[in-house]
Parts: sequence; C-alpha cells; structure tokens
Amino acid sequence: MCGIVGYIGDRSATEVIMEGLRRLEYRGYDSAGMALVPRSGGSIQVIKRQGEIDKGLAPGIREESPDPSAAGIGHTRWATHGRPNDINAHPHTDCDGGLAVVHNGIIENYFELGRELRNEGHVFRSDVDTEVIPHLVERYRKTGLDLLEATMKASTYLRGAYALAVVESDDGSGNEALVGVRKESPLIVGIGEGEYFLASDIAALLPYTRDVIILENGDFAFLTREGYRLYDQGGEEVHREVERVDWDADAAERGGHPHFMIKEILEQPEAWVAALQGRVGSDRAQLPELKNAPSVVDGISQVHLVGCGTSYHAAVAARPQFERLLGIPARAEIASEFRYGDPLLGPDTLVVFVSQSGETADTLACLDLAKSAGCPTIGITNVVGSSLARGADDVVFTRAGPEISVASTKTYTTQLLILDLIACHLGSVLGFDDDARARVDALLERAPDLPGMGWELLDNQEVILRVAEYLAGWEDVFFIGRGLDFAAAMEGQLKLKEISYIHAEAYPAGELKHGSIALIEQGIPVIAISTQDHLREKMASNVEAARARGGWICLVTDRPDDSTAQIADEVIVVPRTAEILTPVLVGLALQLLAYHTAVLRDCPVDKPRNLAKSVTVE
Ligand code: AGP
Repeated sequence: MCGIVGYIGDRSATEVIMEGLRRLEYRGYDSAGMALVPRSGGSIQVIKRQGEIDKGLAPGIREESPDPSAAGIGHTRWATHGRPNDINAHPHTDCDGGLAVVHNGIIENYFELGRELRNEGHVFRSDVDTEVIPHLVERYRKTGLDLLEATMKASTYLRGAYALAVVESDDGSGNEALVGVRKESPLIVGIGEGEYFLASDIAALLPYTRDVIILENGDFAFLTREGYRLYDQGGEEVHREVERVDWDADAAERGGHPHFMIKEILEQPEAWVAALQGRVGSDRAQLPELKNAPSVVDGISQVHLVGCGTSYHAAVAARPQFERLLGIPARAEIASEFRYGDPLLGPDTLVVFVSQSGETADTLACLDLAKSAGCPTIGITNVVGSSLARGADDVVFTRAGPEISVASTKTYTTQLLILDLIACHLGSVLGFDDDARARVDALLERAPDLPGMGWELLDNQEVILRVAEYLAGWEDVFFIGRGLDFAAAMEGQLKLKEISYIHAEAYPAGELKHGSIALIEQGIPVIAISTQDHLREKMASNVEAARARGGWICLVTDRPDDSTAQIADEVIVVPRTAEILTPVLVGLALQLLAYHTAVLRDCPVDKPRNLAKSVTVE
C-alpha cells in the first residue's frame, strides 16, 4: 500500500505535495518522491529519495531547490516489487522524462508489458512494476493522443490493481494538467477554490479542502487550473457526488476510524486481493519469487515452519498443507524454542520463516541457525528490505501494506494465504496425488472469493458485537477447536488476550476433558470453532460437555444448520469456503471479537501495555 498525491493550482506544488506525503507516510515509508511542472515551462523535475521523507526527500528538495511549480504529483512507497532505493522510488518517467507517473497497487502483467516495450526501444531504469505505465502512455502520446486519451488507452493494457496520477511537461502557457485513474486501489479528488487535488486518502487533503469526490472503480479524472472533469472506464463523462468531510487530521490518518486496528481489520479484503494478485493460476499457484523451488524440493525430506506469536499461529495452520502437498513431515515451531532445541537440521531440511516485521530476534536467530546448517530457507514477511527478506534464500511478501497497530491482523490472514500458496507451489514441483490435487483445486478455486466473503463478514457484525458485550464482563475465556480450528483458536485467544487483557486460553477440543474442563463453571465463555466437516461430530460432543458444566457457548461455524448451533448461546457464522481457507475468515471474525471487546473494556487498542510491534530483542 503506497500513498499518492497530486496538485494543480496557485499554491507552491512542492509545498502542497510535501505536506500531503507527510500525512500519507503511514501508508509506506520505504522511499518518497515528486514530479513538478515548472510554472515557467520546460521539462518536469523529478526528485526522489530512499527512506522516510525527513531523511530522504526533504533534504533532496533542499539540495535540488526545484523551480516554482503550479502542478505536480508525489508518492510515498511501501515496496512490493524491487528493493527500496532511489532508482525504484516513484515517480517513474517515460524515456525522455517528458511525463511522470506515481502508482499505488500492483501491475500483474508488468513482465510481459516490459518485454514488449523494451522490444519497441523503450529504456527502463528500475526493476519496479510501475515503470511500464509511463512508457505505455508515451507510446500513445506519440500517436497524437492527448494526455488523458493516452492514459485511457494505456490503462486498457494494465492488469492488476492501481491508482495512478500522471503529469507531463508544459510550455509554460498555464495549460498544465493532471490525470488520475482508479482501478481497485483508492483515489480521491479534492476540490478547492481554483485548485484541485488527487490523493490516496482524505488525510492528505485536509489542510486545503474538505470537499472530496471518492472516485469509483474505472474512473478517470482530468484536472486543470480551470476545473475538473470525470470519465468512466468507457470514456463517457460522468458526474460524482461531492462529499463534505468533517474529520480532524488525527482521525484522518486512521481513515476516520477510532483505531488503526479496526482500519487494518477492514482493509483485509483489499489486502487479500493484493496478496493473491497474480499468484493464483487456474491449476497452480504462481510464485516466481521461489526461484530456488525446483532444487529445494528435490532434496528435502522435512519442513520446519518457524515463527513467533501470531506468525507462529499462521505456521500451525499451514503445517498440514505442507505435509499433505509435499508428502513429507512438516512441523510448526516456536522460534524461541526452536533456536535452543538443538534441532536436526541439514540440506535436506527446508525451513520456512514467518514474520510480518521481518525483524523478530528469535526468528532471525533461527534463520542464522538454519543457514549455518546448510538448510534451504524461505521467508514470508510484509516488509521489503527487512532482515528476513534480505537473509532468506527466497522471500515472498504478504503485500498487506503497513500495519501500525501492535496486534497483527491483516498480516496474519495474508500470511495464511501465502503459506498455502507456497505449499501448493512447492508441491506442484513434486506432483500431487489425488487427495492433494483435490485440496489444491479447492484452494485455487475458492481463494479469489475470499475478499467478497470478507466484506460479507465485515457487513454483519451484530452477533460479534453481542458476544463482545458478554466477554467484556469476564476475566477468563476458553477457545476450543480441532485441527485447523484449533490453529484458529490459538490466534483468537492471543488477539483477545493482548488487547483486552482478558486471560484467554486455546485448547484442542478433545483435550479439554483431560484436566482443563475442571475450570468450566457457570457462565464462563467458551468460543467453540467448528468448520471442519470430518471433525464436526467430535466437536459437537466437546461442546455438549462444556455446556453441561455451565459453559456459555459461542459457536463459530460455517454451517448455521450445524446441530451444535441448537445448544449454543450465540452463533457466529462465517461464509463457507474450502476447508483449508477457513482460518482466514475465522481469523477475521475473531479479530473483530477481540477488537470490540477491548473497546468495551476501554483498553488502549493500538498500543497494548507491555507490547511492541516488533520484538527485536530476545
Ligand atoms: C501479534 O498480534 C503480536 N503482536 C505478536 O505475537 C507478533 O505476532 C510476534 O511478535 C511476531 O512478530 P513478527 O510477525 O513481526 O515476527
């Protein structure tokens, strides 16, 4: 997730864009840059630097002191392709620097387009997917189309999710223009007094205007000093409602939400689209990042999946897929135990590391241990350029965008998706038996439906709110489940524990009767997760046992007609999907449950006591 800004009007474009980027920096801070159209005419001036604004772009502006400009575009980057550095920073330009583009999203077919454009003689400078866009626009500008027409034409060749801002050199006659495009990734038009703006979200506009238009999917915006015009993806001029925003600046950074955590929970459908983008083929997962996969798979006899906290829980959920799809033993390991457990390691052991930050000390120590033993290694992280991303043999990014809240939410569910895809990808090298083939087909067929299912859950939180009301009055809560539902229960208890301070525990449902059921007394909340068909009957008897001892039962199920629902006090229904994908939807539901419970208990949701977003010490 990146932040883009555009401006045209009588103020200093440099100042307006810089202020806007500062307000969007929470969307990404690997690098920042801007392209400015000098009032006096001449070529656009591009200034871009690696790192946060204050350490990179701001000094760059002072050093290069660009000409006064009335129009320009800016970008703050969260890297998904290409390392964070000056070359890969946005904006990106066409061959002779006559036009520039900033982009938020992912161009899925950038490799094919880049090859085609290079064959036409276009000169590329970076290894970023975005750079194909200015060269496509250039191709059509040179056929005589104007900037808007050329951008519309170029967009027909792009596959993926994108919000764009495009600008080009001007002759100084005051005819500067900006073009904005929205497909999946958000883009907003700001309307001032004789000045107009583009931005990824409202936070960037608040110092200048509260009148905004939220562009719809497929819309184009054409901004000049005289005004703005909007067009739909068919090229027809359209009118969109102007909305008045009453947020304060602080609330705007959270997208108007009270906490980053709920903002990030609500971003999950968008994050799942990004995580899956270009990676789900009709009959296989497509992960070109796993460049060592063939050699890795040939030589391995076991797999370890290593992480901490929520990342460990993602590993627990993914373990069965690795075992079944690769046909070799797979284990999920807590990094702080693994590193001192003297594990049997060698070139025949694949070690997969899971870490949203890519900086967790225990996890990185295990990476060193594995590499010293000659193990092939794969990293899964949300941070391009992190220690894990740089240290593992191969790395696959979750593309969830910055996650500010200490509690992991969208990085957890995107980890689940990436882990399942990696298991599919590696397994396909070996070939699947019928059972594995069926699992892979179900995953690939149903994964694209998840974002819509996520919205369905997010739009129906009434039961979750009622359960939160009940939990908020208790100091102990049980989470129980079997198989993948136990993995989901582990994550559900951690979410509740770490932000509401309620003592929660997860138990394999079949284990309850071996001691812990002694703690079930009248009214104590038991969150029972049951989504695995082959385990449903067993779960039913476990729930009966808890109920018989007075437990207050909240059943989480994908079958509202599940017989167990009859004895539950509340039933949270998640959409039905492929069984191996259910931890994604259950994870979303239990994040909401933890969030609403913590809010009811007036806890500091985004910054829980004693916790840090990244545990970089032992
Ligand atoms: C999750 O909500 C917690 N913040 C914590 O358990 C976290 O998952 C753990 O510290 C691992 O962090 P990592 O994913 O950055 O390695």
